[in-house]
Amino acid sequence: MTLERRKALLDLAKEYQVLVIEDTPYRQLRYVGNHIPSLYELDGGEGYVIALHTFSKILFPGLRLGWLVASREIIEKFIIAKQAMDLCTPPFTQAIAYEYCRRGLLDAHIEENVALYDKKRATMLNALEECMPKHPEIRWTKPEGGLFLWVKLPSTFDVDKLLYQALEEKVAYVVGTGFYTDGGGKDAMRLNFSYPSEEDIVEGIKRLARVIENNLKD
Ligand SMILES: Cc1ncc(COP(=O)(O)O)c(C=O)c1O
Repeated sequence: MTLERRKALLDLAKEYQVLVIEDTPYRQLRYVGNHIPSLYELDGGEGYVIALHTFSKILFPGLRLGWLVASREIIEKFIIAKQAMDLCTPPFTQAIAYEYCRRGLLDAHIEENVALYDKKRATMLNALEECMPKHPEIRWTKPEGGLFLWVKLPSTFDVDKLLYQALEEKVAYVVGTGFYTDGGGKDAMRLNFSYPSEEDIVEGIKRLARVIENNLKD
């Protein structure tokens, strides 16, 4: 979201007196471009924003640990709701994360990961440039951060069906339809570049491009 859209969203929240939940698992994973203040920062303590954070993308997902930042009043409600749901997040995993942060290890770890993912991002972008069929309707994002990029295919494609062909080639993606509530996204897919090795990224994109190319001919 651009800074202008963020400000406009906050104005709407204030006008209609609604809370905004800002889900920000990827904020610290930026490779290019400039830091944009979060909705929480822009709110300036007025209390319209609940910011959600997680260790999943910056440490490891198996920790199953996240946190939220909000006004005390809101946090008290969350505590009651959460206690009713699961009693408490395991103190053991909380202690691990606490100790890791207390020793100042997290920032260095994030920095290391950002460098690693940035390389993988470039590898995937280069592989797409090299392998994807040249077609006016095939394009992809060049993400400034996060772990994914978004590939748009010709509107005749059905990514739910295409997935089975890709899986035969041992390549998986997240279907675009998973991101829409109105049946959209049939011609889009989300690719992850953080998990596979650079070698697998190159091979995976080659195979995926082949599957797409075969479907262009049909
Ligand atoms: C946008 C977004 N929010 C939240 C999460 C949740 O992460 P977790 O439940 O592992 O903390 C994810 C994980 O993929 C995500 O993509």
